This record gives sequence, C-alpha cells and structure tokens, in this order.
Amino acid sequence: MTASRKKIAPSILSADFAHLADEVQAVEEAGADILHIDVMDGHFVPNFTIGPPIVAALKKVARLPLDVHLMMTNPDDFIPEFADAGSNYLTVHVETCPHLHRTIQSIKECGVKAGVTLNPATPISSVEAILPDVDLLLIMSVNPGFGGQKFIPFVMEKIKSARRMIDANKLKVELEVDGGLKVDNVGEISSAGADIFVAGSAIFESPDYKDTIAKMRRAVGG
Ligand code: DX5
Ligand code: ZN
Repeated sequence: MTASRKKIAPSILSADFAHLADEVQAVEEAGADILHIDVMDGHFVPNFTIGPPIVAALKKVARLPLDVHLMMTNPDDFIPEFADAGSNYLTVHVETCPHLHRTIQSIKECGVKAGVTLNPATPISSVEAILPDVDLLLIMSVNPGFGGQKFIPFVMEKIKSARRMIDANKLKVELEVDGGLKVDNVGEISSAGADIFVAGSAIFESPDYKDTIAKMRRAVGG
C-alpha cells in the first residue's frame, strides 16, 4: 500500500552552504515536498556536515518539514537537541544503535516522526522487528558520507523487499530511498515501491531546480 502522494526530498548536502536560506526557498518554490538534511559526524561516516544549530536556523526559514538523517555513532546523545531544533523526522542508522527499540521510542517521546535506515550491505532483515514501531524506513542506495555517488544496483531488490515487508504487515511506514537518485532512475525506484525520493546533486547541480523536480515527479508518477 504505497502512500498516495510520492514525495521529492532535496538533500541540502549539495546546496550552496553560504546561501542556505536562499537554497531552501528555491527548492520550496520549485515544488519540493520535504527537505532532507544530512548530519555527519566524521566517525560513522568520513565527512562532517551539520549540527543542531544549523537545523534550528533552517527551521526559521523553511516551510517544508525537515527530514533529518543522522549519520552518527551516538545518536541517542543528541536526539533531544535535534528534536528541539525543529526536526520533523529523525532517522537513525541500525548500524549505530545497539538498543534500536529504545532509540526509536526516545525519538517518538520527543514528538518527532521516527525513521530507521541501513547501509547498502546491511540486510533488510535487520529492521524487520522494528518496522511496526517506525514512521519511516530509509534505504541507503550509496555508502553514506558524500553526495554525488552512483546508485548501487543491488539495492533495487532491497527496495522491493522493503515494500513487500511493509505491505505484508499492513504498516503505515513511508519508504524513502537516498543516494544516486537521478531523473533517469527514479521511475524504476518508484516502481520498486519507494514513496520518498532523496536527491542532492541531481537537483542542486542542475541549472533549473523547478524543471528537475518536475521531471522527477513525472518519472515517479505522482
Ligand atoms: C549521502 C547522503 C545523501 C546525499 C545524496 O550520505 O545521505 O542524502 O546527499 O546525494 P546524491 O543525491 O547526490 O547522491
Ligand atoms: Zn541522506
């Protein structure tokens, strides 16, 4: 049971960080549905990006929901800060959460939608037990850390498995895919069952955000 409206989620990782407010406004005017924000800790992933103060600053200028992807080893220590900063979704990696159920509960206790994600090589079975408790399942289609990487082909089967798992259990979990999404592959990713399409370089490195988002929306069929 795919969610009725497919959502395009620009990842601001590829935006101009010196003009973030303008970039957010530009993708909002271009028809984006949610804003994807990549938090990287230089430990779980080999890159540093954004912390709670930047999320709070973005919250002041953004009209769209903030979809915050925590690529960090100790998310439990920062959930209240990211929630207070205005996150609408907080997504943690299964690889970094030994007490995943507790982590998901603490996100929900903060009044934020809870997401879980997994790296390309992590089996989908690792999230099966927690699925009834989450609002969002994010399938990584690149190894996290950088924008502009290529979609890893074997992940397509994982997206299909995730869709089957969600539907078989009649869950209201949104299925999001992140990494290497382009105008020419989002159609197939949509057919595999995705609801939310994260795209960083494909949007922010394009000359016309509106045109790119419109092409993606046409390709995903919604
Ligand atoms: C990768 C991030 C992605 C990234 C996607 O670690 O989680 O959200 O911004 O960038 P593209 O769309 O360029 O692959
Ligand atoms: Zn991301």
